[in-house]
Amino acid sequence: MQQDVERILISEAEMQAKIRELGAQISRDYAGKDLVVVGILKGAALFCSDLFRAISIKAELDFMRISSYGASTKSTGVHRVLLDLDYTLEGRHVLIVEDIVDTGLTIKFLKDYLSQRGPASLRVASLLDKPSRRTVDVTVDYRGFEVPDFFVVGNGLDYAEKYRNLRDICILKPEVYGG
Ligand code: IMP
Ligand code: MG
Repeated sequence: MQQDVERILISEAEMQAKIRELGAQISRDYAGKDLVVVGILKGAALFCSDLFRAISIKAELDFMRISSYGASTKSTGVHRVLLDLDYTLEGRHVLIVEDIVDTGLTIKFLKDYLSQRGPASLRVASLLDKPSRRTVDVTVDYRGFEVPDFFVVGNGLDYAEKYRNLRDICILKPEVYGG
């Protein structure tokens, strides 16, 4: 797997330091509040598990899985909920945890979908943010790193379902994407 990597964009150590900061900030911001952390499978599973352990206040953890139709490296904005939440969100503070916000269509869909359940607040944490690719206006409230317009993999992010277990955020060799 490692031989397919062209270069490392963000190292595991940089990520872990940033995740500790984000966890501390979230713990301060939600102190005394009823927090539900919602990880978006599969990409955010690894980031969410680190972030959740970096949060020091009482909180609940749940997961959603949605599919977006279309080519593997492009988001189409057409979404379907494959796994929904177990708990009610009425009057609770919800934090969506994503791996990357690219066009913003996925987050926009999720915010519209979850806001119908009457949460007290609805915010977004994302490990990565590619603002140059945005087509809809969405805010990332807790952002790990801004990345340039490259297709990246690692720490949960995949290319055709592989490379999620790379420990760093990496760019693959062009021949891999071409394959
Ligand atoms: P959006 O709806 O365009 O914001 O895309 C969000 C989803 O597209 C993410 O949750 C990822 O699954 C996927 N995605 C976007 N950019 C990348 C990337 O560079 N690497 C891996 N997955 C990506
Ligand atoms: Mg994803």
